[in-house]
Amino acid sequence: MEFPESFIDELVSRNEISDVVSDYVQLRRRGGNNLFGLCPFHSEKTPSFSVSTEKQIYYCFGCQKGGGVIHFIMEIEALRYTDAVHFLARRAGMTVPEGQEDKAAEHRSRLLRLHRDAARYYYAVLATPLGADAVAYLNQRGISKEMVKRFGLGAAPAGWGHLAEAMAKKGYSADELTAAGLVKKSRRDGVYDTFRNRLMFPVVDVRGNVIGFSGRILDEGTPKYLNSPDTMIFSKSRNLFGLNLAKKSKAGYLILAEGNIDVISLHQAGFDSAVASLGTSLTAEQGRLMAGYGKDVVIAYDADSAGINAAKRAIGILETAGLGVRVLRMEGAKDPDEFIKARGGDAFRTLLERSENHVAYRLLSMQQGYDLEQDEGRLGFLREATQLLAGLPNAPEREVYGRRVAEASGISFEAVMQEVTKERKRGERREKSKREREALRPAQRNQPSERAIRYENIVSAKAEEGVIRLLMRDPALCGKTDGLSEADFSSPFLGKAYAVIRRRIREGGSLTPDALAAELAPGELSHLMRIVQEPENLANGEKSLGDYIKKIETEKLKQSPAENLLDIYMKYRKDKGVEGEDARDES
Ligand code: CTP
Ligand code: MN
Repeated sequence: MEFPESFIDELVSRNEISDVVSDYVQLRRRGGNNLFGLCPFHSEKTPSFSVSTEKQIYYCFGCQKGGGVIHFIMEIEALRYTDAVHFLARRAGMTVPEGQEDKAAEHRSRLLRLHRDAARYYYAVLATPLGADAVAYLNQRGISKEMVKRFGLGAAPAGWGHLAEAMAKKGYSADELTAAGLVKKSRRDGVYDTFRNRLMFPVVDVRGNVIGFSGRILDEGTPKYLNSPDTMIFSKSRNLFGLNLAKKSKAGYLILAEGNIDVISLHQAGFDSAVASLGTSLTAEQGRLMAGYGKDVVIAYDADSAGINAAKRAIGILETAGLGVRVLRMEGAKDPDEFIKARGGDAFRTLLERSENHVAYRLLSMQQGYDLEQDEGRLGFLREATQLLAGLPNAPEREVYGRRVAEASGISFEAVMQEVTKERKRGERREKSKREREALRPAQRNQPSERAIRYENIVSAKAEEGVIRLLMRDPALCGKTDGLSEADFSSPFLGKAYAVIRRRIREGGSLTPDALAAELAPGELSHLMRIVQEPENLANGEKSLGDYIKKIETEKLKQSPAENLLDIYMKYRKDKGVEGEDARDES
């Protein structure tokens, strides 16, 4: 699906890259036209993610992802090229040229309507005899009418075809219902309801669309929850239960719980900023989504060991998303729902207020693994704790927690800090020798991080990269590359990139990453950006180009099996003007 180049140009110019990236990453200016921030594509503590406002590209020196603004959206929103273009068009208030609006958009809006109608149906069932069991269950769990309304809860009746029938009456086809995951195909050509005899929780996105459902069983059976499959409008890993409501909260922080029931109990007790992930462990996308609606998060997971481990994982994800993280310690109850039922909302508020900064939380759980009455235990704890402290980026933090470790272990504060300093020095030495080792392994270092484009011949590939870099920076040099064809390249990827670039230059097309994104896979584009980033002497471009080409030819000669030698010999004769009958044509 090609868009007119003029349209892409305008789209790119109306979506200034640092502006777009700032929606996801906090950028700081660091020298000239470059902005830096923490990379959203890998976990890091010091910024290696850069945005050049001059070149309108981004590039991460850590994970080596890079490209233009369209590519950025493809990566961060996990969209295909066409969808990323639509995304940016919407952002800039532009209309995508006629004929590009595909059937997908129509399908999507029908799917949304179907979900809304299904949610209305499930809600209406509560008022009928078919919903009696669900109503009894709601009462038993102490969920108020008000919450039922606010969350749009409902009931899927027992029986095989209630929803299918109701939706057919509204004009939805069996295929549409199947695509939504609301019904399944039966062996005898018919369909049956996916959700039966369950309490239904609609999943609502931040725009207010119903995009999927979770259904909880009404007794002790399995599976306890059934969720909508991922569809074109629903993805479990990119949405959060309750965020449509929590985003309006005035609390100033979000509460992250594990279960749907916890979220509802929390809202009912007045904690209207509670959300939960949808039956999977927390993802980076969900972290970013939350970061769009608050600066801080309090994790309020279950008190069991699964909950504690999940909290540890979530801390890293939320921090990477730029959120301040605290962790609540549930005492005397297995989850927020049970706690609030047993002790009330005020007691929960006290827990919230006491919730610990995550460093303190980690120290505390570490401490519980050692017997601090014993010397051995104290030393073990000190060893592990100093590692954690040494990793903290700022000194006041190290000092504050250093004091806690000292108190807990009964070791003097000075001794603790001495160990922390030692550990930091050790860390620096490790870093340094790692860098040195890498410098001694140029072949390794020069390999692309993308597996699919491993180089066969590093020496030639480096020269091939040089050719590409020169052409990208100074397209006028294209005229000096006639003797070099795609087949001369040792790396198939570099050959392909070379061919694409040359064709675009000849056709007067653009070489911006956004234009190239239409022809290269995201991994390939990132790799190309890495190549373009490297220094190159442009003052003497023509000479450098000649040197690169010579190197490529020599390498080819070295590695050629005998039959190829003949080709090369013929080419040599031709170049020298020794045309003869047997001189082959170059294609
Ligand atoms: N979950 C799921 N599939 C399951 C079990 C759980 O998708 N088979 C998800 C649901 O989103 C659920 C969350 O994991 O809300 C937490 O599970 P659990 O604690 O078992 O459920 P609660 O909602 O807390 O329900 P209850 O209070 O009845 O235990
Ligand atoms: Mn639970």
